[in-house]
Amino acid sequence: MKHENRGRLTKDGIRIYDASDFPGMHAAGRLAAQILDDIAQHVFVGQTTEAIDTKITEMVEAAGATSATIGYKGYQHASCISVNHVVCHGIPGAKTLKDGDILNIDVTVIVDGWYGDTSRMYVAGKLPRKAERLIEVTHDSLMKGIEMVKPGNTFGDIGHAIQSYVESHRMSVVRDFCGHGLGRVFHAPPNVLHYGRPGTGAVLEEGMFFTIEPMVNLGRPETKTLADDWTAVTRDKSLSAQFEHSVGVTSDGVDIFTLSPGGMFHPTY
Ligand code: MF3
Ligand code: CO
Ligand code: CO
Repeated sequence: MKHENRGRLTKDGIRIYDASDFPGMHAAGRLAAQILDDIAQHVFVGQTTEAIDTKITEMVEAAGATSATIGYKGYQHASCISVNHVVCHGIPGAKTLKDGDILNIDVTVIVDGWYGDTSRMYVAGKLPRKAERLIEVTHDSLMKGIEMVKPGNTFGDIGHAIQSYVESHRMSVVRDFCGHGLGRVFHAPPNVLHYGRPGTGAVLEEGMFFTIEPMVNLGRPETKTLADDWTAVTRDKSLSAQFEHSVGVTSDGVDIFTLSPGGMFHPTY
């Protein structure tokens, strides 16, 4: 069987993987999460995001794995690093981190053909109070979304859990980017929206693999993409945060493939 075509597709075009496919996803997810643990010591005031990305490239190579992002649609780096009002797809570069900058580092690796995709927030120097609140709410909104993952619930249930939590804290959910199916490929159906209404959208089934990766803004939800065709920023220049896990649906709940081996997923505890 061609390995991209294993399992079956639902009527919504979502691939259903087999119980024997979970270990491969765990291995890929674990490596991506380990890299995010190990990169923490390289985030500090005066550091460039390019230097952080170079470390990530070295870590992927040292593990005998492949970066999913190098060469993806012309992208040239092993990570996306999104600082302050950058929402996602920040390109690592020569600018140095300043005290109080917050940043998302997003890494996707391929291990034995399986994709592991995860991102978290970091801070250079001292974490400003309002950034701390944003990071906290964004992290917790991802976890509220993950709590909805079980057979019989819908993707709308996930989106609604995230959106209602974020908006109850008077912050906003970005609509312009979403999570995605993954497995033997980087991006597959469905689009995993981080907003929505309960009971709407495709029904979750055991064996679905996808990411949940809410982006949350302190101000308005609108984004724009810069002239480099990658960097997405908040239109109103407000701070933005994001966390991402890759998960699988089990018979009675969820399996998180990208848990931090060192318990470091959340930056402030
Ligand atoms: N890892 C990102 C995601 O969560 C995708 C990055 S694609 C890149 O889907 F080309 F910008 F790296
Ligand atoms: Co993703
Ligand atoms: Co990602």
